[in-house]
Order: sequence, then C-alpha cells, then structure tokens
Amino acid sequence: MKKYEQLLLDFPILNKKMQNHRLVYLDNAATTFKPKMVLEAIEDYYENYCANTHRGDYDLAHTADVKYDEAREIVAKFINAEKNEIVFTAGTSMSINMIAYGYAVKYLKPEDEILITEAEHASNVLPWFSVAKAIGCTIRYIPLTDEGRLTPENVKNAMSEHTKIVAIAQVTNVLGYYVDIKSIAKVVHEFGALIVVDGAQSVPHFKVDVKDLDCDFLSFSGHKMCGPTGIGVMYGKYALLKEMDPLMSGGGMNARFNTCGEVTLLLPPAKFEAGTQNIEGAVGLAVAIKYLESIGMENIEKYETELKNYAITELKKLDNVILYNETAESGIITFNIKDVFAQDAATYFNSKGVCVRSGQHCAKILMDFLGTVATVRASLYFYNTKEDIDAFIDACKKAGDFLDAYFN
Ligand code: ALA
Repeated sequence: MKKYEQLLLDFPILNKKMQNHRLVYLDNAATTFKPKMVLEAIEDYYENYCANTHRGDYDLAHTADVKYDEAREIVAKFINAEKNEIVFTAGTSMSINMIAYGYAVKYLKPEDEILITEAEHASNVLPWFSVAKAIGCTIRYIPLTDEGRLTPENVKNAMSEHTKIVAIAQVTNVLGYYVDIKSIAKVVHEFGALIVVDGAQSVPHFKVDVKDLDCDFLSFSGHKMCGPTGIGVMYGKYALLKEMDPLMSGGGMNARFNTCGEVTLLLPPAKFEAGTQNIEGAVGLAVAIKYLESIGMENIEKYETELKNYAITELKKLDNVILYNETAESGIITFNIKDVFAQDAATYFNSKGVCVRSGQHCAKILMDFLGTVATVRASLYFYNTKEDIDAFIDACKKAGDFLDAYFN
C-alpha cells in the first residue's frame, strides 16, 4: 500500500479539516475521493483537446477520439472484456436501466419471471419493476440465509423454467457480503437464463474478471472507484449487445436513416452511445483505473480486509453497538448505536469529523429483513487508515450520549 504521506499528496481533499477534526471519510460506498492525476486528466481534456468525439476531421478531434478509444480499451482490460463489449453510460443506474429496457422489455413474455433479492439497491429493483409493469411478467425474490447471504443453492431452488433473468449485486451496498457470482452464473445458465450483475460495490474493491465469472452483463460506476461522477460502464457479452435495443437514440449511434423512418444502427458499443458523450469522464475513469492498478487490486482488497477486521474487532468490544453484517468480506460496516436514531448518530459522527451514511441506503426493502427502520453505514477504501478507524471507534463510544457529547 501507498504511504499515508503519498496519499495526502495524491488526494488533496484528505488534507482538509472537518469541524476542526482530521477528516475521516467513511462513506466510500456512496462515492470516493479522486486522486490528483484524475483531476489533471479532466483539466487536460478541457485545456488541450476539447473537441467532440467521432465527428471531427481536425487534429483536436482526432486526439479526443484516440483518448476516448484508449479509455474504452483500459476499462475492457481491467475487467477482462473485449473492447467492443464496453458501453460508456452515466453510471450503474443507467446501465441497469439500459439492460432492463433494451433487453428485458424486448425479449421477456408475460409468463416469464425475473429473480432479484431483498438486499438489492433501488437501481437493481426499480428497473425490473418497470419491466414487469410493461410486459406483465413476475418479479420474485430469492430467499437469503438468516445472515442475509445469497447462496448458489438458494438461487438454484428459486429457479424455474420461467426464469429468464437473475439480477443481483456482486456485493450489496448495505450487507456487503461477497456473492459467488461464478457459481451462480453456472446455475443460471443451466436454466437458460441470463445473469445481470450489479458491480457498483465490487469492481472498485477487488479484481473482477467477466470471462471467469461468465456473467452476461456487469454494471459499475466511475465515481465509486476514484473516477469522475457521471461516467459508468455497461459490460455485456457482444452477442447480447447486438441483439438488444438502445435506450436512447440520436447522433453518433446510427449509420443512416431516411424520411420513411428506416434507421440502420451502428454496431455496439456505438449503438448505445447516443449524443455527445462524457469524454472527460471516460478519460478520467481510465486514469483512475491506472491509479488503482498502480496499487494493485489484490493489495487494495487485502488492505481493506485488514482494516475492516480491525474495525470489527474494536466495534465488538463496545456494548452500545448493534452490528448487522459482522462477517461481511467487504469494507462495508452496517450498524446502529443502541437507542440512538441512525441519522442522529451520523450527525454526531460529523461533529467529530467522521463522515458516514445513515438511513435506508436506497435498499428500502432490506430494512424489513434487518428489522429496523434505518442503519448507519461506514464504508472503507484503500486511503483509510487505522487512525481513521480509531477516530470512528472513539465516536461510536460517545455516540450513545450524543446529546451530552454535543454540549461538552
Ligand atoms: N449507491 C450508493 C450508496 O450505497 C449511493 O450509498
């Protein structure tokens, strides 16, 4: 791992103070900080080659084309996909909506069913509700274990000849367990269905290889992996991308059209990238990937696991903390302070310079499963330190008396 002094140089924001405390940012599942080289890459686009892509016949436009194309190549290699299987989108939500409207609405029938789980983020629930509404098919929930885990056995038991799509996160944003996508993909394919993977909380934290997993689609967001906001990826197996319809139409995605309304679309990925693209976003994401690779995804995963284990050990010593996902493999820690409403706890943490998220975390149906109305979530990334965890634990200790603590 990088030395903290180096991280302070790489991430200008880490030098900030919050409420007169050292900034302790533990909301990385919501978004991540951006290293200077990503910020510089964005500036470089605007200062040195600000032109539209796939349209211009001048040098600036050519540079923009080359950089955008290189960015796609870098993303493809990062997840072991082919370049033409990488579609740039605005983020995970847009990617899943594109699959729902472009594939499921086109091919599913009223007798078909889509399987999801109660632990999914709204982005991996609501698009499927829309599909069900549009075509009259059924949504079913794969049962989770008592702990909240999704197992290949549970998927197998939930499958039927009507199942056409299984849409699940590789790591869900509240429970944070690793899901064995590779084994589940085998089960799903035995039934002739497709597996659509939400990789928003997995791709930033460990090595994801789409060929090894054999997933049909994978979506993720740039901003959760040190890249800019407003850029994300929809990976799809090329044959599926060819079959499905684009969600949006416009310039840059068609070869020709005429007054009779006949339209010939370009091949994927261009078919899905209507209108002017987020060029600086794609370039920034590619630089973010280079940055992550310079540390090594294995190192990132190992470091986060150690930090998370340290946090859990310390949290378990406190009798005012309720933990909801103690055994999760990821750096997502979901908890409550006994007798303190989650948002009050988060506000108290803020007063100590500690940023956490509270509420339902866009996973509203999970709250019934957890038997609570809201939780606090601390989520780690590689630039967090043991000192961050100590500050967090210290805040947890005092958060039970949060009203007293405020006035002291
Ligand atoms: N999906 C993001 C989160 O879990 C916004 O916080």
